[in-house]
Amino acid sequence: MKKEITVKFEPLGIRVSTKPGKTIFEIAKDNGLAIRSECGRRDVCGKCKIIIHNMKVVSELTENEEKHLAKKEVP
Ligand code: FES
Repeated sequence: MKKEITVKFEPLGIRVSTKPGKTIFEIAKDNGLAIRSECGRRDVCGKCKIIIHNMKVVSELTENEEKHLAKKEVP
């Protein structure tokens, strides 16, 4: 696994470097950014989708995450 990964927050165009192992919500908070969360981060609404360009730096999809993704959204 890479030592550092880059996360780009759109539409802000803000790039941050971080270590793998954190959630996107944690990375945003660490960098003073807020992400809208319809369900209060309880992992039930499926509204907080992201685009991942390198699947090697993320964990496997959870069963709940798969439930919220269309087939075409899963690489
Ligand atoms: S904000 Fe509800 S599942 Fe992510």
